[in-house]
Amino acid sequence: MLRVENLSKQFKGSRGSSAKTVLAVNNLSFQCKPGEIYGLLGPNGAGKTTTLRCLSTLIKPTSGNVFIDSYNVLEHGKVFRSKIGFLTSDMKLDGYFTPDYMMNWFGRLNKMEDDVIQERKSKLFTDLQMTDFIHKKIDKLSTGMKQKTAVAISLIHDPDVIIFDEPTNGLDIVTSKAVTDFLVSRAEAGKIIIISTHNMTIAEKLCHRFGIIVEGEMKEEGTLSEIIEGSNWDNLEDVFFSYILPGGDHV
Ligand SMILES: Nc1ncnc2c1ncn2[C@@H]1O[C@H](COP(=O)(O)OP(=O)(O)OP(=O)(O)O)[C@@H](O)[C@H]1O
Ligand SMILES: [Mg+2]
Repeated sequence: MLRVENLSKQFKGSRGSSAKTVLAVNNLSFQCKPGEIYGLLGPNGAGKTTTLRCLSTLIKPTSGNVFIDSYNVLEHGKVFRSKIGFLTSDMKLDGYFTPDYMMNWFGRLNKMEDDVIQERKSKLFTDLQMTDFIHKKIDKLSTGMKQKTAVAISLIHDPDVIIFDEPTNGLDIVTSKAVTDFLVSRAEAGKIIIISTHNMTIAEKLCHRFGIIVEGEMKEEGTLSEIIEGSNWDNLEDVFFSYILPGGDHV
């Protein structure tokens, strides 16, 4: 089980901004159990990436904590990292190398034995339909091929918790489906999966539970039917808009 408890993150104000500080994430709580796909939804600047970066140990929460079973991110950063696979929306891959080479490199970085790397790599390349391009330089790959490579790298160590920030952003529907089908198969294998997305259709299809974040605050949380039952709307997109569009129920 992954539990986020009263998570907040405050940044110093960025240059050019009059505000001294930005409260990017404000007292967020939610949880996700094995086999579940949790969708974090929110407009640009809502705090999704900041939340996922806190969960992935890349940045330290200002307050609150995150737990995976009995481990927490503040005290057990190293164990935490080994249990998490994080895909960022701005992962930069060195264009000179091939997917195959990068997987070996990241496998060794994760202190995996060579035969385990080979086995894991071969499974990921097959599952993500990558075998045609694993020996091509990353520079020569399409956006979708690069994204599949980033997905495979983030999962080389077979983490229990998969955290993907906008995994289908910029992908065509075929590649997008390959990635989301893959996530479904990982959830069925008992992994904990948390994604952020702007795509309501994908969210509705893929996620078992949702959190709608606006200006760092959790506005709605639960299954699709729980969220819809408590609203005046009959779909997720309209509930979402009710929090962000001028004239919406909650604005
Ligand atoms: N390193 C940082 N320093 C200062 N402010 C930051 C930093 N990172 C994010 N922020 C601010 O925190 C807020 C939340 O940003 P975040 O990237 O988490 O939003 P998001 O929901 O992921 O948005 P998007 O949909 O555009 O990716 C924004 O106001 C952003 O400017
Ligand atoms: Mg983001």
